[in-house]
Amino acid sequence: MTRSEDALETATSDASLARSKARSAEIDLAIDQAPSRFRILTGDRPTGHLHLGHYFGTLRNRVLLQNRGVETWVLVADYQVITDRDGVGPIRERVLGLVADYLAAGIDPERSTIFNHSAVPALNQLMLPFLSLVTESELHRNPTVKAELEATEGRAMTGLMLTYPVHQAADILFCKANIVPVGQDQLPHLEQARLIAQRFDKRYGRAVEDHPVFRRPEALLSRAPMLLGLDGEKMSKSRRNTIELRMSADETAKALRKAKTDSDRVITYDPAARPEVANLLTLASLCGAGAPEEIAERIGDGGAGMLKRITTEAVNEFFAPIRARRADLAADEDYLLHVLHAGNERANAVANETLAAVRAAMGMDY
Ligand code: TRP
Repeated sequence: MTRSEDALETATSDASLARSKARSAEIDLAIDQAPSRFRILTGDRPTGHLHLGHYFGTLRNRVLLQNRGVETWVLVADYQVITDRDGVGPIRERVLGLVADYLAAGIDPERSTIFNHSAVPALNQLMLPFLSLVTESELHRNPTVKAELEATEGRAMTGLMLTYPVHQAADILFCKANIVPVGQDQLPHLEQARLIAQRFDKRYGRAVEDHPVFRRPEALLSRAPMLLGLDGEKMSKSRRNTIELRMSADETAKALRKAKTDSDRVITYDPAARPEVANLLTLASLCGAGAPEEIAERIGDGGAGMLKRITTEAVNEFFAPIRARRADLAADEDYLLHVLHAGNERANAVANETLAAVRAAMGMDY
């Protein structure tokens, strides 16, 4: 790539990010006016227990959207686990653990649909016609696929890894979601889903006369602050720098005691110069301890010890009810299975409908 092309690409992506942000703000207003016009889809790969980064990054936001009256679908993306690792681990336990995390955080199974990939055959069948609508070079250019490939450190890329954005498009399009709450890094996925919807309707739409088979999903960019891990790096399970939703108060205190800080005794909120200290202040603030600057002022020259104490108290107080609910739920496997089965039933009904419309549009409804 030449320099000027490089610059052009950056400029266009800045412009499209600005557009996405502006559009997200419009959607946010529209939700307040008519929440029933929207259906959101979100989801997670069941790779382990959810942590506070997930909670403040996405989970809390889903619950808020649900409570504003938006129909909320939450996908336990079990087939996506086999795209990026050889083994699925203790998958049953992880899937049920994720369901428990969702419910404990406030996803209400009466109003929202929790379901998993492998139980919805018609969703997966959409992958075939969808794959015919994308080119191989397009897949290779997908920034998320590229990033995933880099993260696997040179291991060969599987066919499923290369095509997983198409599978994710099937997730979004089958259930007629028109909003997907995402972080910036997931924007290319959504673009891929929109492209597939457009191309499908262009190629097969004639059969159904101007009647698009698919809705066009849009991103709802989250404004959630980014929490770092306790070592100041990106929060991630594999780095063991997280606080999990399900941890006990003692485990939380222990993890926070080991958090990285710096040697300046006077606590100030300075995200650029003191990212680790600022991160703990942000966490305490998210858990209701006040504005980060205010907390810093209260601590003054109380040092890192006091900062950690205050953060621990705030986290443990904030998460106590969620953790208590989670413990009850985790002890009731039958109930978790019941929730998942009910969600899968609803997901299958919609997926079968969508697949029928797809087959009709393709002239394959013999
Ligand atoms: N890719 C998401 C993750 O890694 C999980 C996911 C799969 C998803 N399909 C989705 C998220 C559809 C939103 C919409 O956590």
